[in-house]
Amino acid sequence: MRGASPAGARDEREAADWVRGMFARVAHRYDLANHLLSFNIDRRWRAHTVRRVRPLLEQRGARVLDLCCGTGDLALALQRDCPGGVFGTDFCHPMLEAAGVKAERGRTRVCLFEADALRLPVRDASFDLVTVAFGFRNLANYEAGLLEMRRILRPGGMAAILEFSEPPNPLFAALYHFYSRRLLPVIGGALSGSREAYAYLPESVRRFPKAHELAEDMQRARFTNVHYEYLTGGIVALHRGTV
Ligand SMILES: C[S@@+](CC[C@H](N)C(=O)[O-])C[C@H]1O[C@@H](n2cnc3c(N)ncnc32)[C@H](O)[C@@H]1O
Repeated sequence: MRGASPAGARDEREAADWVRGMFARVAHRYDLANHLLSFNIDRRWRAHTVRRVRPLLEQRGARVLDLCCGTGDLALALQRDCPGGVFGTDFCHPMLEAAGVKAERGRTRVCLFEADALRLPVRDASFDLVTVAFGFRNLANYEAGLLEMRRILRPGGMAAILEFSEPPNPLFAALYHFYSRRLLPVIGGALSGSREAYAYLPESVRRFPKAHELAEDMQRARFTNVHYEYLTGGIVALHRGTV
């Protein structure tokens, strides 16, 4: 079964433990590294995601959950347009702590809880929108991740997955690979103090399903109206599907 497979991890549990430990080590520098390494474009990717799901956010009483919320940037952006408030969850305590500090500073209505996205302590059919930004790729089992998202969505609910992808233009892809595989581990390593984390990033993107494959996986998990759009030349793709 496909899923994140960091070097040395022998099974899904070891893969998840490695991912959690790695994010714990970089949590204190995660936002800085993210914004600098993406030239701040990551903010635009999240803002675009919010625009795409806005009709659901504005529904009266909408229940929204941001999975793998990390330091909370997408959850916070979602809640600005969601009168009902947003839940955010992650299995890495230091990342959630950073999200908590931001939520408190902004006096927001984001409710954070620690949980594994593959085993959410959440009732069936209890959310209208489930989002995940740059977290899905890190799950130890993609099929289980999709089924769990589907389980917690109400009929008519939507899953939105923002994730790195493979640019379809070969020339642009070559440039991007040079940046992400050669430069990013060095700069990211210096910024975060963990070169390992920023070597894992391009490797995990390389192993991640192509955009059309992820769309097929969503269809296999019985999402309907599945479609995706490329952002910034395909560095990132936003997939959406309904239940
Ligand atoms: C690259 S960060 C993305 C954080 C945030 N969504 C953003 O847009 O910046 C990936 C996050 O996914 C979380 N994560 C990975 N696997 C997870 C799992 N199985 N359950 C919960 N969180 C997970 C990590 O702890 C990390 O905080």
